[in-house]
Amino acid sequence: MAHILVTGGGGFIGSNLVEALLKQGDTVRVLDDFSTGKKENLEFSQLDKTVASRPEILEGDMADREVCQKAVEDIDYILHQAAIPSVPRSVAQPVESNDANINGTLNLLVEARDAGVKRMVFASSSSVYGNTPTLPKVETITPNPLSPYAVQKLTAEHYFRIFYELYGLETVCLRYFNVFGPRQDPNSEYSAVIPKFIKALLEGARPTIFGDGEQSRDFTHVDNVVYGNLLALEAPKAAGKAMNLACGGRLTLNELLAILNKIIGSDIEPIYADPRPGDVKHSHADISLSEDLLGYKMEVSTEEGLARTVDYFKDVFGY
Ligand code: UD1
Repeated sequence: MAHILVTGGGGFIGSNLVEALLKQGDTVRVLDDFSTGKKENLEFSQLDKTVASRPEILEGDMADREVCQKAVEDIDYILHQAAIPSVPRSVAQPVESNDANINGTLNLLVEARDAGVKRMVFASSSSVYGNTPTLPKVETITPNPLSPYAVQKLTAEHYFRIFYELYGLETVCLRYFNVFGPRQDPNSEYSAVIPKFIKALLEGARPTIFGDGEQSRDFTHVDNVVYGNLLALEAPKAAGKAMNLACGGRLTLNELLAILNKIIGSDIEPIYADPRPGDVKHSHADISLSEDLLGYKMEVSTEEGLARTVDYFKDVFGY
């Protein structure tokens, strides 16, 4: 049993990680400013209502060094998920997203180093690659970020690597590829495409596709990301490394919509709109490095994950 800090634990991916850690008997502290995360995400009705199965919640902003210092006290491991997400949000608000995604991360790294944390795992992003001529995207490709969000994730990765090399703080960067699943917010203008499409189809509305719909993504169910993080906490060969975490396949948005229409039993056409600035064309991961360094393998296929996620949203929306 370990004492683990999950930053951004109130968010979509963070709360799935907290739930998994509590289930395996770890004690968990959540640091979140609840700007995009929600406290309801941390009410796990399916878990035993014992004190040990609830996370300790520390509400605060990582821009404040004292908050970070408090957050890492007596902590063995950190899963750092806190970020202002979304490529288009970072295009609209580059300074705000930079402050959170880089300055906040650096504050936490310094405090983790000083507190003697054993290992810190970072939620990086497939966006660091940008548009590359070769697919699938492998870690040896030179990154070419296309948006402030991608620049921030890549910059943070460099900080994680040098904190390992300079100070011996063990770090692992996991490049998540388009994660989806339960608790992902469908309601913001910056929501990811899968919850937005599912919500539209369940409501009988036409989803919007930006561009021609032939862009593709390695859509990854969150259970795979949880599994990868649990492995990354311990895997001896992973220290100081950055690696892809994904399914290792890809779907175009047109294919995604067709699959969702089939699962839901609808036949709704999209509205095609202008492509989004900063959008990557194709994203498809080579997952052999995480297989090698973590012993990772995909646990839930994209299609199975989509079916589960539709069921989840049907429950949430009462359909
Ligand atoms: C990017 C990253 C991802 C990261 C995420 C964080 C890449 C390849 N992926 O996701 O790793 O986790 O940022 O926010 O850079 N779209 C529509 N209609 C909609 C919404 C989106 O057509 O209503 C399109 C977008 O233009 C894009 C695709 O769907 O082509 C996926 O968009 P989104 O879900 O926002 O994720 P990315 O920007 O790909």
